[in-house]
Amino acid sequence: MIGAPVVLAIETSCDETAVALLRAPGELLAAEVASQIELHNRFGGVVPEVASRNHLLALRPLIERALREARVGLEAVAGLAATAGPGLATSLMVGFSAAKGLAVGLRKPFFAINHLEGHLLSPFFGGPVETCVALIVSGGHTMLVEVLGAGKYRLLGRTRDDAAGEAFDKVAKLLRLPYPGGPEIDRRARAGNAGRFPLPRSMIDSGDAAFSFSGLKTAVRYLLPKLDLEGEQTVADVCASFQEAVVDVLVAKTIAAARQCGRKLVTVSGGVSCNSRLRERFREACAANGLELRLAEPALCTDNAAMIAFVAAGRLERGEEPSPLTAEISPNLAL
Ligand code: KG4
Ligand code: ZN
Repeated sequence: MIGAPVVLAIETSCDETAVALLRAPGELLAAEVASQIELHNRFGGVVPEVASRNHLLALRPLIERALREARVGLEAVAGLAATAGPGLATSLMVGFSAAKGLAVGLRKPFFAINHLEGHLLSPFFGGPVETCVALIVSGGHTMLVEVLGAGKYRLLGRTRDDAAGEAFDKVAKLLRLPYPGGPEIDRRARAGNAGRFPLPRSMIDSGDAAFSFSGLKTAVRYLLPKLDLEGEQTVADVCASFQEAVVDVLVAKTIAAARQCGRKLVTVSGGVSCNSRLRERFREACAANGLELRLAEPALCTDNAAMIAFVAAGRLERGEEPSPLTAEISPNLAL
């Protein structure tokens, strides 16, 4: 739509440098992600100082590339946005400062965006936000939220220890698979027998929306010394058994929460929602329970700037007050 405002958003909450240009409400003009996975793979996880330094190196060329791809100049940008938190302080600071600097230079409004709201609304990308029960499953977070409208969220429950993605990454490390572990386990599990190793489904019947995944990780750790990890089939069976345990809990608790809240729509977002088994099981369970399901597009599941731009575009369109330029990053920001 010509005339609709263009938002430039930057996301640097962890190890992904991402820039997006979005013409409201949902025309993605450019979406660039520079992944540091290769770099952090050497250390088996994200090293904050390394991530921060690389955001600094990657960001300017990435913004220039996004503008070229979108075929717009900076003068076309009506608003700037950046992730304020939660995330790694030294990473957040890079994208946040850059977006604020651009906003000052261009004399355009700046929006400080909550990363979790970015994930939360990504299943609605380009369309209106609807009331639902939403599961966010990423490397840093596992939570159930009731969405009452744009900006109106009620936290139902969250993990008491590890996030689901963190459990995937830690179990992959135990299996000596590359970082990040989620996609590796997903791929290997396809050839595995999910019933071979009985693993705990922690808190599946707790009657609330809280999660716990550290016991499952520990159960895998105790199981591994008894196995020959040189055998590809054994590794595939561990991956499938572990993945099924995680998915069982996520599906059961989300369906129970939707029922308790009386909501007819379920959404799932965040990096772990890329998982092929999780997507399949949610489709089956929602159909069996008469619920509608909205999954984030795979490209919008893992960290990206398009989801940040989408939240900011909504604020701009509703005429909401921009963030003050004195706004600071907030590494522990809650939803
Ligand atoms: O949303 P995200 O990019 O970053 C955070 O905000 O944390 O999520 C990253 C997490 C990692 O733990 C990664 O292993 C997991 O998402 N992940 C997956 C898959 N793809 C990414 N987990 C399971 N299956 C996948 N296919
Ligand atoms: Zn994320």
